[in-house]
Amino acid sequence: MGLQARCLGTRSTTFESNYRIQIMSTPRILAFAGSARAESFNKKLIAIAADAARAAGAEVTLLDFRELPLPLYDGDLEDAQGIPENAKKLKTLMREHDGFLIAAPEYNSSITPLLKNAIDWASRAESESEPALECYRGKTAGLLSASPGGFGGMRGLVTVRSILGNIGVYLVPDQVSISSAHEAFDESGKLKDARKAKQVAGIAESLVTLTRKLKGS
Ligand SMILES: Cc1cc2nc3c(=O)[nH]c(=O)nc-3n(C[C@H](O)[C@H](O)[C@H](O)COP(=O)(O)O)c2cc1C
Repeated sequence: MGLQARCLGTRSTTFESNYRIQIMSTPRILAFAGSARAESFNKKLIAIAADAARAAGAEVTLLDFRELPLPLYDGDLEDAQGIPENAKKLKTLMREHDGFLIAAPEYNSSITPLLKNAIDWASRAESESEPALECYRGKTAGLLSASPGGFGGMRGLVTVRSILGNIGVYLVPDQVSISSAHEAFDESGKLKDARKAKQVAGIAESLVTLTRKLKGS
């Protein structure tokens, strides 16, 4: 019998009961930026938010899309070769997590092609028996953005929120955008403005709370 099955048994010992609570109440969060750029402001921001989610009790995996390059979605490529290996890896990662923490840059008032492309590949089924939008339905997400501009990328988040909501993701209502991002981080990658840092942590905490509620734990 698997560990989880044993822990869910009705005649569990105190140790097993405690373990069950720990397993069921630890939300697993996949954190990533919508940019692969080495000096990405959104990568700095997501690292801060990931730490805050860990502090709030989540198990967090930080994903860098530089390490998971994906071809541009192309239906002919999919027909000829199936889902690319890295898209399968992304889907596996998404299945293994309960929610997503996303720092999304804004390109021309909208989502970056990298992020949209990743969302699109992960929305594709690998077999006819795979439930539709398996990587998204019932999952949670918290959104952040950073930009050198005055809006901090907040216009792009409108699109990100709309896309994720349409494919079955429950989103934390609040979001935080860091404007003047080129001046916002110190040399160690921390946010200079303590108020902003608190707001970012607040999104991570809300995501953990929402995920726990949806998991029923
Ligand atoms: C094609 C393109 C379009 C952009 N459009 C916007 C925009 O609409 N609003 C904005 O605030 N910044 C815009 N920017 C600037 C990005 O915010 C900036 O490049 C930012 O550093 C990207 O995020 P990153 O640092 O995480 O890679 C644009 C950048 C590019 C390359």
